[in-house]
Amino acid sequence: MTAPSSPTWSQRFESALHPAIAQFNASIGFDIELLEYDLTGSVAHAKMLVKTGIISPQEGDLIVSGLETIRQEYRQGDFQPGVEAEDVHFAVERRLTELIGDGGKKLHTARSRNDQVGTDIRLYLRSQILALQDQLRQYQRALLTIAQDHVETLIPGYTHLQRAQPLSLAHHLLAYFDMAQRDWERLQDGLKRVNISPLGCGALAGTTFPIDRHYSAELLGFERVYGNSLDGVSDRDFAIEFASTASLIMVHLSRLSEEMILWASEEFGFVTLKDSCSTGSSIMPQKKNPDVPELVRGKTGRVFGHLQGLLVMMKGLPLAYNKDLQEDKEALFDTVRTVRGCLEAMTILLQEGIGFQVPRLQTAVDEDYANATDVADYLAAKGIPFREAYNLVGQVVKTSLRAGKLLRELTLEEWQAIHPAFADDIYAAITPRQVVSARNSYGGTGFEQVRQALQRAEQTLEA
Ligand code: ARG
Repeated sequence: MTAPSSPTWSQRFESALHPAIAQFNASIGFDIELLEYDLTGSVAHAKMLVKTGIISPQEGDLIVSGLETIRQEYRQGDFQPGVEAEDVHFAVERRLTELIGDGGKKLHTARSRNDQVGTDIRLYLRSQILALQDQLRQYQRALLTIAQDHVETLIPGYTHLQRAQPLSLAHHLLAYFDMAQRDWERLQDGLKRVNISPLGCGALAGTTFPIDRHYSAELLGFERVYGNSLDGVSDRDFAIEFASTASLIMVHLSRLSEEMILWASEEFGFVTLKDSCSTGSSIMPQKKNPDVPELVRGKTGRVFGHLQGLLVMMKGLPLAYNKDLQEDKEALFDTVRTVRGCLEAMTILLQEGIGFQVPRLQTAVDEDYANATDVADYLAAKGIPFREAYNLVGQVVKTSLRAGKLLRELTLEEWQAIHPAFADDIYAAITPRQVVSARNSYGGTGFEQVRQALQRAEQTLEA
């Protein structure tokens, strides 16, 4: 009999594991997060063993009820295995054997921890992906809600962070909506490759028992099973894909964060931060800091780091399982926690943490030269070739800058001195509203287009 405190595999060994090495080797400190998935996977495995006659129905029932007892204990906080358990899989097997006696030792028939842990992380990731998709939907809803209120609010649009052309604020926000939509779809697509069962691949080569892999896969809701046992136990592509999708989610959140931080500055003043989502400084009483977007921007790096870590972890691994793979868990857990936390915080920030300063936006749009393209378009519409028109408008801008005037402040004589095609209707053509409204090409910022885009967004969320 193995003493309860010695490792499950200790019979083969002459002496005990060095305590520091036991600590180093153990994953229980973090893989306890897989507990419920491990139990679910084991229930399916036990049922499969019964169905194939490898264990008796009585043995199966006992195992399943023991596993459910452990679930209850865990939920009540009474299942807290220590480092002696090594990992969550051994912890469960031990507790099961304590609870139901020797029958518990039959659970691991025709299975290895290698296919078991692969099953667990897939079940974990599948449920986290569904939760993330839900959160993305809420984030999209928050963006859409603001956008719906601000179709006709104008905001300067930038390229090179220089004012370029004015935009509908809704159009600007919907750009983030669309990014989130691609993220949602990427998660959905990745699910196909998460949802494959490695259970029954054994340690690496399959098993001598007459198992039914398709049955356990079906019980667990997997769409298919790995066709090659070596690949099944050592594939972590799905984890890398997920980390990559997560990284893109963070890229998008971080870009929005950067804009919020700029917008909240005195210099821009496009948004104000509400007290519920910002903090003060310890010595500068006047300050209100955009901590939420700053933290989101800051946390982006660690998610990229996990993607890199997973890629490097895999690149040199010979087939099949290697202990290196134990490192996948903390990377995945932290990625999930970080992205979920950031999405939640950004959603709250959008829902109640910021207010757009419409008058300030209006002034920003009124008082600049972002309508210059429209002057060129005006001339081009009158038959002047665009490049020539573009050069003429360069002169218009130079003239106005010299005179300290905005374009709309030039007199008709000043316009006509540059080109006789300018007429009285130039003033109406270059109001910011007109400038925005005129960009009525599909996907453009024209109000009509933006209203259509809002409808498409609404349909996406309703689907
Ligand atoms: N804790 C291990 C992991 O996370 C479980 C699999 C161990 N397998 C083995 N052959 N030692 O990867």
